[in-house]
Amino acid sequence: MDFVKELQRLVHEAFGVEVKISRPKHQKFGDYSLAAFDLQRAFPGKSVQEIAAQVKQVFSGNELFEQVVEVGPYVNFFVKKNLLAKAAFEEPTFEKKTERVLIEFSAPNVAKPFSFNHIRTTLIGAALCRIYREVGYDVIAFNHLGDWGTQYGKLIVAFQKWGTEEALHAAEDKVDYLVSLYVKFHKEAEIDTTLDEKAREAFAKLEQGDATYLAQWKEFRDLSVKEFDRVYKRLGIEFDQYLGESDYNKDIPPLLAELEKKNLLVTSEGAKVVELEGMPPCIILKSDGSSIYATRDIAAALFRFNTFHFHKMIYVVGAEQKLHFQQFFGVIKKMGYDWIDNVHHVSFGLIKLATKEKMSTRKGTIIKLSTIFDKAKELAKQIIEEKNAELAKESSLDEVAEQVGVGAIIFNDLKTDRNAEVMFDWDKLLSFEGETGPYVQYTHARIKSILRKSSLSSQEIAAGDTSLLTEQEELLLINKLNAYTEALIEVINQDKPHVLARYLIDLAQTVNNYYAKVRIVQEDKQSEAARLRLLVVVADRIKKGLLLLGIAAPEQM
Ligand code: ARG
Repeated sequence: MDFVKELQRLVHEAFGVEVKISRPKHQKFGDYSLAAFDLQRAFPGKSVQEIAAQVKQVFSGNELFEQVVEVGPYVNFFVKKNLLAKAAFEEPTFEKKTERVLIEFSAPNVAKPFSFNHIRTTLIGAALCRIYREVGYDVIAFNHLGDWGTQYGKLIVAFQKWGTEEALHAAEDKVDYLVSLYVKFHKEAEIDTTLDEKAREAFAKLEQGDATYLAQWKEFRDLSVKEFDRVYKRLGIEFDQYLGESDYNKDIPPLLAELEKKNLLVTSEGAKVVELEGMPPCIILKSDGSSIYATRDIAAALFRFNTFHFHKMIYVVGAEQKLHFQQFFGVIKKMGYDWIDNVHHVSFGLIKLATKEKMSTRKGTIIKLSTIFDKAKELAKQIIEEKNAELAKESSLDEVAEQVGVGAIIFNDLKTDRNAEVMFDWDKLLSFEGETGPYVQYTHARIKSILRKSSLSSQEIAAGDTSLLTEQEELLLINKLNAYTEALIEVINQDKPHVLARYLIDLAQTVNNYYAKVRIVQEDKQSEAARLRLLVVVADRIKKGLLLLGIAAPEQM
């Protein structure tokens, strides 16, 4: 049973209001809590203390609760132990919802490496997709390839000047080759001021549909997509829609016509713009008649709404693009589309390396993602070889090293509030101790090893009598298991996967503390079965939670 929901239902039934249910700081104060303040609407003129007393009185006789207490303006509920245990051992389920949520994430740029710059959006976005789905939403995972804009004019010019087809095809990593040209362009453009103008012209030609330029551009695009797909495959990420900015080119003329018809376009210094309140105007067409990033985003949003009729759409994109989103959302609002109120920019902070330097493609200070994953895997392999001589001999070593290495990077990212900066520190993120992916994975593997060591069969364990679980540590674990559903709902409410990552750290710490204090394998086989049954559920929950974050849970490590 979902106690939060049930409590909310009961309060609504009794007082006709919606309340927030939270958990007291410490279990000794109760399992769930509500603030009397939330009920003021139902009790005009009453103080919060009076309301709390009233709520306590109404629920004291309820068969769900062992005890209901007032703590100042709060009412705390102690749920009956057997009900808590029963709920903890149930498979968490969610009702299917009819709402469709479109989640745009990743959105790397063609002819640029898929690097740190895009890892956060990819990891956060993919985790949100899985969690929204798990909770019952109809999710559309959407990619928005950066494949159009003046930078492709730069690339074409650079390729004409310094590149050759032979070198491109001979290159081991074709995207690297293109990136090197792009870097060269920026270096040279500092000296040769005509280069930028040439790039603008090249892009204008591309926009006008020049066949040679288009073929060139398409080649760059296809090569890059192949590269991105390798990363997605390694991370187990799939998109339902994989479109590029260029796919919306055809939607731009009708968009312009609509803006014109709605009298929203203003000419400013030769450009066409839409004026907005409290922020700079949104450029729609530059003076040379070419569209910009924002123009394509407006067209894309209209297309997505008209095609998929989403209830909600989120864009998982770095915080530095905040103004861009405010501007083009503002234009859509001015066009009269109120659905834009259900569209959100889910922003995030940067990844900081130990050197505290921001990476930049232009300067060439990029570390490739695949290189990072490979290194993580290699380091994970070394650690496992040191710690687990047995596993080191097995053929699964390579697979486990990949799961631990890549998992460590994913977890390091997702355990951080998306608004904060992610600190990237090799030693910390790969450690088997502390708040890391390997720590959570290791906790899972350790439970699995305890289960393998027990003389009890899985049937005997599954039949364990949960009413024997009365130790303080056991009650705490039971409570944590029940908090799983709440953690997922919280992730959705805030679009913050770190809530789940933090939950997993907490669950792992609680279970580690449990078997440090309480004897699991013992003489009393009844008690052993009950305790192992609890561990089975904990391991299961850890595994499920990790999977939702995009991380595998190896059986041994
Ligand atoms: N490709 C862009 C970049 O790498 C991000 C695109 C974000 N999504 C969007 N709809 N504008 O900066």
